[in-house]
Amino acid sequence: MANNDKRAIIIDTDPGQDDAVAILLALASPELEVLGLTIVAGNVPLDLTVKNALKVCELAGKTDTKVFPGATGPMGRPLVTAEHVHGETGLNGPDLPEPTMLPQDQNGVDFIIEQIRANKDRHITLCPLGPLTNIATALQKAPDIAPKIREIVMMGGGFFEGGNITPAAEFNIYVDPQAADIVFKSGIPIVMAPLDCTHKALTTKERIDALRAKGTKVCDATADLIDFFERFDEEKYGTDGGPLHDPCVTAYLIKPELFLGRMCNVEIETESELTMGMTVIDWWGVTDRKKNAMVLNQVDAQGFFNLITERVATL
Ligand code: RIB
Ligand code: CA
Repeated sequence: MANNDKRAIIIDTDPGQDDAVAILLALASPELEVLGLTIVAGNVPLDLTVKNALKVCELAGKTDTKVFPGATGPMGRPLVTAEHVHGETGLNGPDLPEPTMLPQDQNGVDFIIEQIRANKDRHITLCPLGPLTNIATALQKAPDIAPKIREIVMMGGGFFEGGNITPAAEFNIYVDPQAADIVFKSGIPIVMAPLDCTHKALTTKERIDALRAKGTKVCDATADLIDFFERFDEEKYGTDGGPLHDPCVTAYLIKPELFLGRMCNVEIETESELTMGMTVIDWWGVTDRKKNAMVLNQVDAQGFFNLITERVATL
């Protein structure tokens, strides 16, 4: 059973360097109770995202964290991965040792269902940082859990910033548009950090230097993760630093005041291959469609990085 004076969360993730920083921030923050990590194929195939999640838990010194393997691929499309961004291991950058921790035998989808049913209603927040396959599969397998979930706080989508894997679509949504459609039609309260938010959280040299200045093993490894991860986006966008996507989810849970956004209708393109996976966000309210998500589009970037640096330094 979850601890009642902390916010109980399940992180669903496809590590990925930015996922790793989001997980480290969560494991370092007393406001949160991480009930478990459920793992999904995304940035790299599932065997690697599982291994990477175990590596991050060991890096954090939190070897009691439960890691549950989930979906090996999207609900109805071939898996698309992102080694070009994350490297062939999915966690290129620091030289982290092979994990000694073992994953759980239980499937991540069944863990999500079990935990939602075992805890009081609206107690658990799901925090997807990758494709939404595990979440959507759980909702299809156990429709009764939808009204019992407190909130889904996720990284995904984009609108004014367009896409990052196609001109129209952000990677997490693009990999499994069918799953995203199920989640956004579920009626569960959603907070979404799209590219319009995460592109304002850039890993500048000054911010990475501040991490290294802490002089701890975990801060150094975090800086190494970011150094590797940012090179692709620095080249693509011509910026000092790249967007640090997934930690926006954890930071929002800890300090929501760092973010601004508005309730919008969000629908997912699941038909046209040209715009497959696009999040159609009615930012200006030009339709009367139900506003089904809080869409974040502003972040106090320095406050965000200060939080990450301060918390990760405690590990
Ligand atoms: O588009 C960015 C998202 O795709 C992040 O979650 C990153 O880890 C990748 O999964
Ligand atoms: Ca991710």
